[in-house]
Amino acid sequence: MSANSEVYDLNVNGQKRQVRDAWVGESLLYVLRERLGLPGSKGACEQGECGSCTVIMDGQAVCSCLVMAATAIDSKITTVEGLTQDDSLTAVQDAFITEGGVQCGFCTPGLIVAIEHLLDNNPDPSQLEVKEAISGNICRCTGYGRIFEAVNTAVTTRRATNL
Ligand code: FES
Ligand code: FES
Repeated sequence: MSANSEVYDLNVNGQKRQVRDAWVGESLLYVLRERLGLPGSKGACEQGECGSCTVIMDGQAVCSCLVMAATAIDSKITTVEGLTQDDSLTAVQDAFITEGGVQCGFCTPGLIVAIEHLLDNNPDPSQLEVKEAISGNICRCTGYGRIFEAVNTAVTTRRATNL
């Protein structure tokens, strides 16, 4: 399908999803949430500043609010809903709960996606590498200490369970 079409397909979480009645300038964030029923990615600033809308696109963590959905036709997109194929939690998600890395939770999906992406590419990151990886993800509540603890716990769990 053409990027100028009002109907096009996206590859999201391993599935071909048809987007209908779309305006070609809609952001990927908008299309995921409002047209494809995937509200996990959050819109806060919608200017690429906060990271709450982070998804994985072709192996890169990106702000979905800055991507025009119609330009993602040939891309492989993973949202927070697609990190597992069933109702189980990933080690990162579980660690956020056990370490108290969630308060209001608005930043959490973006942080989870960014950290999953980091650990998939670097299973044993240094503290500096963790800080760099989530430097684009703003949390207004936690002060980050518990988030860093959650990353440490997830690293240990993943190492033990190979998840
Ligand atoms: S909503 Fe996309 S970076 Fe803030
Ligand atoms: S937990 Fe509220 S913004 Fe992070």
